[in-house]
Amino acid sequence: MSYFKVFGGKRLCGEIEPSGSKNASLPIIFASLATCGISELKNVPDIGDVRVAIKIIESFGAKVKRAGNTLCIDTRNVFYTMPDKALTSSIRASSYLIGSCVARFGVFHLSEFGGCNFCNRPIDMHLFAAASLGAEISSCEISAIRLAGAKIYFDKPSVGATINALIMALSACGESEIFGAAKEPHVKALVDYLISAGADIEEIPFGYKIRKSELHGGTLEVLPDMIEAGTYMLLAPMTEGRITVRNAAKLELDSFFETITDAGIGISIHGEDVTVYGEPQRPFLVTTAPHPGYPTDLQPQTAPLMSKYFGGIINENVWQSRFSYLDSLGAFGVRYKTMSSRAEVYHSKLYPAETFAPDLRGGAAAVMCALTARGESTIKNAEIILRGYSDFESKLRRLGANVLYKE
Ligand code: UD1
Repeated sequence: MSYFKVFGGKRLCGEIEPSGSKNASLPIIFASLATCGISELKNVPDIGDVRVAIKIIESFGAKVKRAGNTLCIDTRNVFYTMPDKALTSSIRASSYLIGSCVARFGVFHLSEFGGCNFCNRPIDMHLFAAASLGAEISSCEISAIRLAGAKIYFDKPSVGATINALIMALSACGESEIFGAAKEPHVKALVDYLISAGADIEEIPFGYKIRKSELHGGTLEVLPDMIEAGTYMLLAPMTEGRITVRNAAKLELDSFFETITDAGIGISIHGEDVTVYGEPQRPFLVTTAPHPGYPTDLQPQTAPLMSKYFGGIINENVWQSRFSYLDSLGAFGVRYKTMSSRAEVYHSKLYPAETFAPDLRGGAAAVMCALTARGESTIKNAEIILRGYSDFESKLRRLGANVLYKE
């Protein structure tokens, strides 16, 4: 089993450049299946989830070439197939096959979608979007001989359901509107890619207007990963260091910046670069919300900081509960109490530990604890962290961390 060995207690200082966004790259890779042509995607991170996504679309006949961080995807000769369950059940983004297969092939056989199962992750809104456009849905199959434009009203924003609705609506006759859509930067990135591929999509208040479009290959340079950027920013106060994250000023992290400056952490922005320094001066209050709120994917990484300094409160408003990772942090001495969607994290003495990465972001939080606890820690199941953090070991080392990854 893979593990990270961390010799904690070192101050992390220096500059870091986040890789391309995972959550923008994945929907675009799957959406390329709904296009007929050659797409060029720049700044695509070489991480576990992206490798799996590529294998899945290759099983549909897509030809994919990687040159550095650029992916070239040829979807001119794709065909429908039942994708390998072992692959679809290992990443959440495989649920984007619903949209691209229904749009391109008129059919999709439902399979198990994986990813971080920190709580129940339903797909009822994805199916609702397909049904609104006229698809027929049984317990194992979605089929659509002809989709028809419709108004789709979501009662809460869902990144995945919005993405699938957008892709399917492009193949539906006439005009569709999505209301209550998610507006995360990665949803906007998908829209930009689809527009470059010939899509007729217009942003409207609370959603999108879409007209049926023939899609050819598209191009996009993927933005840096906002969650990776935020994780490195939190590592500065966690290790009493000073870290500059390059190209991070444009990443729509305003509510994250507001929350950490409210706690007393210093931030300075010079051009596109963000430098984080200093320590919290008071307890943290983190309230997650759909974009532009505090990103839920940066919630687990704040708990280590709370425990090292003045404690804090987390209100989780995106997922029903997202606190199972706290068990793993408990091994380092993190003390906490959870009450459904709220957690209280108390000031605690952190010491080295041997533990498991429970999921991607919870695993990053465990590494954060290990980096500050003086002595040797081991975090097993470490490959789950590399699903979302590109070159994690070498980037941490460049900042001065004493860390070793073993497969
Ligand atoms: C995406 C991200 C994930 C992030 C999440 C919220 C990817 C690959 N994953 O996940 O990292 O934590 O956005 O920013 O981009 N919901 C339903 N029914 C549905 C779909 C969602 O009730 O059919 C609910 C979920 O239970 C959750 C909320 O909607 O409470 C938001 O989920 P959603 O935005 O869909 O998350 P994902 O797209 O799965």
